[in-house]
Amino acid sequence: MNQKLFIKTWGCQMNEYDSLMIINQLKTKQYIITDNPKEADILILNTCSIREKAQEKLFHQLGRWKKLKNKNKNLIIAVGGCVATQEGKDIYKRANYINIIFGTQTVHKLPEMIDHAKKTKKLIIDISFNDHKKFNIDYIPIQKKPTAFISIMEGCNKYCSFCIVPYTRGHEISRSLDEIVYEISYLSDQGIKEVNLLGQNVNSYLGKGFNGKIYKFSELLQIISEIDGIDRIRFTTSNPFDFTDDIIYAYTQIPKIVSFLHLPVQSGSDRILKLMKRLHTIQEYKKIINKLTLARKNIQISSDFIVGFPGETQKDFEDTMKLIEDINFDMSFSFIYSKRPGTPASNLIDNTNLQEKKERLYILQKKINEQTLNWSQKMLGTTQKVLVEQISKKNCSEVYGKTENNRIVTFKGSKNLIGKIINVKIIKIHSYSLKGQMITSQ
Ligand code: SAH
Ligand code: F3S
Repeated sequence: MNQKLFIKTWGCQMNEYDSLMIINQLKTKQYIITDNPKEADILILNTCSIREKAQEKLFHQLGRWKKLKNKNKNLIIAVGGCVATQEGKDIYKRANYINIIFGTQTVHKLPEMIDHAKKTKKLIIDISFNDHKKFNIDYIPIQKKPTAFISIMEGCNKYCSFCIVPYTRGHEISRSLDEIVYEISYLSDQGIKEVNLLGQNVNSYLGKGFNGKIYKFSELLQIISEIDGIDRIRFTTSNPFDFTDDIIYAYTQIPKIVSFLHLPVQSGSDRILKLMKRLHTIQEYKKIINKLTLARKNIQISSDFIVGFPGETQKDFEDTMKLIEDINFDMSFSFIYSKRPGTPASNLIDNTNLQEKKERLYILQKKINEQTLNWSQKMLGTTQKVLVEQISKKNCSEVYGKTENNRIVTFKGSKNLIGKIINVKIIKIHSYSLKGQMITSQ
């Protein structure tokens, strides 16, 4: 009988992508996916450690699964992702009923590890970094929407002082150009219209081509734009440090690149950026945005912000607020600084109390929300290209999809529009979505 698999994923799109890879591998081994952990034969937890409480959250979850294991001794529990990579065997010390610990770079070994775990009562652990065979073309994640994530590189060499990623994802590795092109062509044949290129620093991409040549990110963009059927290109995350002129130039040459860029700056204070080891100044950041705006008049920028970094003064915070206003950021992600074990910033003195940090976060988020709404309001009466994703859950005579700048637009239409890019006139603005009217179908 087919075995049932339940998988829970925390964290970023990279983890989502890894989980899809796991599902695809195990499906080829006749496993069936279930959304009910109680009926599963295998439970997989793909963890995230970017901010604190990751460990507590993990043991909480495992505690719940322990009850299921008590009822079913053959149940296999596997823990993977960033916490697993970081903590390794220590997880087993606190939860000795788990069977497998796998890392961010060993997801491809999971089927083998499961087979092994079924035969032995011992813990199976592999959190190594050195076998670069993760991206096996046979396990291309099957995507359910007309938009697909494609991992193009992984890991990070930047070592920003607050960040755990270089320790949990390892050093930068770029996938080969041919593998990426093959994957995207395959997805395009399945009807995918939009690709979202994933990586911790996509713009440091340096991947080998078939001919041995090394391709830069801007060259990769050009090649992807020539793949039939792909109409939109997004990518995340870029780092300002190597957002070079050739990438900016690509915006003038490749209309398929969306007029929306997530370019995290973290803080508006040079002093804090230096303590964060961000490798660029505010002026350099602004210069990139100016050039981008010249290349694409209507480009919208979003960012990540960390408030309450150790030593952040009221003045530093005000500098961040000023930058938010100057750049006129669209929707952004913002977090209170979280001390990560083993990172250089964890040794810095932090005098700001949590209440103060929460107030700063509140002020910052309020400002960003206002700006998001302002950007949306500017869209009223304009025609937007909407990639239709689904029938509306509230009204089956409507569909919804996304604009280039990630706004959800609902409009009258039927399911034959799903997967198409449609011209839609924006007729109403709500806080989290827009209402539209179809103009033409393409
Ligand atoms: N490569 C990206 C960042 C990836 S991590 C870049 O260059 O900026 C995603 C986001 O999580 C970061 O942008 C940061 O805002 C947030 N983050 C990372 N470590 C954090 C920490 N220790 N505390 C709070 N937020 C953190
Ligand atoms: Fe983290 Fe900085 Fe890399 S935020 S992912 S160390 S660029």
